[in-house]
Amino acid sequence: MKGEILKHLSQSSTALSGERLSDLIGVSRVAVWKHIRQLQELGYQIEAMPKGYRLLAAPDTPFAWAFGDRAERVHYFPELGSTMDQAMTLARGGCPDFTVVVADRQTKGRGRLQRTWQSIQGGLYFTMVLRPKIPTADSALINLAAAVDMAATLEDLYGIRAQLKWPNDVLVENRKLCGILSQMAAEPDRIEFVNLGIGVNVHNDTRDVEPPAISVAEITNRPVSRTVILSTFWDRLEQRLSQGGLGHVIGQWKERAMTLGRSVKVQTLTESFEGRAVDLESKGGLILEMGDGSLKTVVYGDCFHQEV
Ligand code: BTN
Repeated sequence: MKGEILKHLSQSSTALSGERLSDLIGVSRVAVWKHIRQLQELGYQIEAMPKGYRLLAAPDTPFAWAFGDRAERVHYFPELGSTMDQAMTLARGGCPDFTVVVADRQTKGRGRLQRTWQSIQGGLYFTMVLRPKIPTADSALINLAAAVDMAATLEDLYGIRAQLKWPNDVLVENRKLCGILSQMAAEPDRIEFVNLGIGVNVHNDTRDVEPPAISVAEITNRPVSRTVILSTFWDRLEQRLSQGGLGHVIGQWKERAMTLGRSVKVQTLTESFEGRAVDLESKGGLILEMGDGSLKTVVYGDCFHQEV
């Protein structure tokens, strides 16, 4: 209902009366008025004049209704422990493909290799439940695709030319703009779900974040919107997966990569390796040239670029 009201108000160049809105939506004028009041309380600037209502400004909050036809698949929370946990419950309960859990803040936001992900107000924190029809062995390609699609989203919207650090960090000037963490439930031949957890620094203050981070608002002079970033990324990833577009992802990732050709240290939960990153294999693993000239492929871990 709120989504419908906002859609009509934003499409109209003149004020819309309560009567007109109630006709358009098929509810009483009192119901329209109540929803308008609630929207105003949530931060929407809606002017109420004798001629009717006019939408002046909308808050940058990823309320479900801000996603139009996708609203039913969006679960928005002002605060959560971690969107990963809520998404896991929904995924195990059989929620549809491309269900999204998004929160304004997380009290237990987590990153890869059991790190904490600072999740204060202003950032974009979401987990997307995907049910891709791909072989389980290809699952790492989804994470690479997400990094490529987020980098492309930020380039399209704000002209940001981000680089990718293996496996799926999005960086600008060597500072982290976006991190990706995924959890999967699968059988040897079939993926049940992949939960893709993405944190983007948007308006949040990143000064105290370690390792060094940067936000979209800091890079661009244009107004930035978490809702627009999420919707645009969603368009890209949904289109890619519906067209079986994982075949191109390795090449697309390499075009934006900053890891290849560098001396790196790769840390897994239990070991670490040092070598020169020379290539990506077809499933997304990083190929390292070791000190003795042998090649080693690492499929999971975090990568640190060594100073040269
Ligand atoms: C990393 O770079 O270490 C991955 C960071 C992933 C952070 C996101 S924010 C949304 C989702 N919920 C979490 O608790 N983590 C992911």
